[in-house]
Amino acid sequence: MNKPTHANPIQTAVFPVAGLGTRFLPATKAAPKEMLPVVDKPLIQYAVEEAYAAGIRHMVFVTGRNKRAIEDHFDTAYELENELQANGKDALLALVRSVQPEDMLCSYVRQPRALGLGHAVLCAEHLTGGQPFAVLLADDLMLGPSGGRPVLAQMVDIFREHARSVLAVQEVPQDQVRRYGIVAGDDLGQGLLRVRHMVEKPSPENAPSRMAVAGRYILTPGIFDCIRNQTRGAQGEIQLTDGIVGLLASESVQAYQYQGKRFDCGSKLGFLEATVELALDHPEVGEDFRRYLKQLSS
Ligand code: G1P
Repeated sequence: MNKPTHANPIQTAVFPVAGLGTRFLPATKAAPKEMLPVVDKPLIQYAVEEAYAAGIRHMVFVTGRNKRAIEDHFDTAYELENELQANGKDALLALVRSVQPEDMLCSYVRQPRALGLGHAVLCAEHLTGGQPFAVLLADDLMLGPSGGRPVLAQMVDIFREHARSVLAVQEVPQDQVRRYGIVAGDDLGQGLLRVRHMVEKPSPENAPSRMAVAGRYILTPGIFDCIRNQTRGAQGEIQLTDGIVGLLASESVQAYQYQGKRFDCGSKLGFLEATVELALDHPEVGEDFRRYLKQLSS
């Protein structure tokens, strides 16, 4: 593995965004699920901001059909900006421009067929420069501890120290293990595990633990050969989890119990929970919304 030249050891973030979003039909019939807003920001923007806050400047989107809105969102919107400027709406103009900071580079690659998360990550290989990279699943909206480091930034800190792949994990109830990649390993203290085994979406009887992978990964480039050489796994898909199992044969991988909170915005309930919690915290509507909720429940 070549040493990164930049001070930040992780320079590229990969966002697999080709999924169909069937759980949110009909909202996602013509619009990407990653563009569904939580209060006033689309889901994908939360993930991109988390990567940016972790010092990453190159964002790679693995897109598919019907995902043009994501590219437009991270591009300049000339007509809108001119209009806002002409009308002296400086705060809104700054808000619109803040979506794509000048030092952020966006790349797009298509995943031509829905063959699974591992396959999506493989589609981004040529854009990762042979360096370790992050993967963020925008369905998982992650909030760092209040006043503390965002989740991916915590993981970059760990990578900086150990130079090994890092998977964000959290303990889940036994009856939920079948929704996740589940890891088992040796406790290294300070929220770190050395991963020994990993399985995608096990039944509760076969799960090696209750430690579930959340949608944040830092991976070394060795993952690509592993994905290339694996067969289809759970649900007939090329799973990222199986690629990581392959990586374990030659490298050690760490799981990290992140500090913060995860909202599963791939499910309606998780999406609503995120909306309520972020709305309560929102500087513009938070107070009024709290009052409204109180009056609703009284
Ligand atoms: C994916 C991964 C799974 C991981 C989960 C986190 O599953 O395959 O290992 O635990 O994301 O959200 P998906 O939610 O796409 O089914």
